Amino acid sequence: MKKRILSGIQPTNQITLGNFLGAIKLFEQLQNEGELFIFVADLHALSSNNYEPKKMQENILNVLKVYYAAGLDFDTTKVFIQSKIPAHTEMFNALINFTTIGELSRMTQFKDKSSKFKMNNGTEKIPTGLLTYPVLMAGDILLYDATIIPVGIDQKQHVELTRDIAIRINNKFNTKIFEIPEPYFSKTGTKIYDLINPKIKMSKSNENTNGTIFINDDIQIIRKKIMSAMTDNLNSVNYDKENQPGISNLINIVCSINECDKDQIIMQFKDKNYKEFKTYVADVVCDFIHNLQTEIKKIDINNLLNKVEKNNQYCNEIANKKINEFYKLIGLK
Ligand code: TRP
Repeated sequence: MKKRILSGIQPTNQITLGNFLGAIKLFEQLQNEGELFIFVADLHALSSNNYEPKKMQENILNVLKVYYAAGLDFDTTKVFIQSKIPAHTEMFNALINFTTIGELSRMTQFKDKSSKFKMNNGTEKIPTGLLTYPVLMAGDILLYDATIIPVGIDQKQHVELTRDIAIRINNKFNTKIFEIPEPYFSKTGTKIYDLINPKIKMSKSNENTNGTIFINDDIQIIRKKIMSAMTDNLNSVNYDKENQPGISNLINIVCSINECDKDQIIMQFKDKNYKEFKTYVADVVCDFIHNLQTEIKKIDINNLLNKVEKNNQYCNEIANKKINEFYKLIGLK
């Protein structure tokens, strides 16, 4: 059997350049490496602190469109919507009984994200969904026997937890019901940082949106965001993440888009100032996003949704088989 590769993106807010260069581009490159499952993680979005019900359907469609424009082939790659496969919820509900509150509360993502729910007066109302988030993710992975999980480094711990859960259940019932997954990181993959605060990841949910480039942003706005990106006072285009995180981030962005070598850029801007460099970066990014936006505008939405519907059906078959097998194992059938 072909290896299964699986990953997803949450439909919170709009897709960013960081999502695109860090994840979606990699998905496209993995299309010939195995059977690829790429989904829209709408159930995960429920636990986000900026979840907006009224925008969900639009956000889901946007993620699908970006997947399509990025070159995912919806006929061979199983692009689907998580909530359309009820087995994800069923698996989650069963798996929470094979994890402990202790291990979930030790997840660094949980610690980071729960701090956003602390109020000034000291009280905190952390949704339980934030704690159980990695179990939902484990269900996503284990339902499909996926073994290769392309994720950002911030999700590594969740994939490791998934491994632990799979091994724990296999041992407990003395079976091989679950394949043991592994996180997969792109070799060339670039983590893109915030333009204003280049020490934090470029994220859909960063408070100051001037540091985030959204794929749907107006091209002029993107240019402005890049021209006002945080730099330093060393005035020399160099790759030095420690002392020049802003400039290093801009180099990464350009090299990721153009698939060029960092040294090449450094040479090219050896005697140039930051304004000249930023103008070049803005040209590259604006051109790239403009093309992407043109592709997105051309998409035949009905055709796209038909293909997704077919994929949802295919995934339901696989996932239902697995959940039935698991229900038998735990005495529910
Ligand atoms: N949690 C992932 C993220 O925020 C998205 C995700 C949900 C995922 N389920 C998954 C990724 C399963 C890989 C496999 O990036």
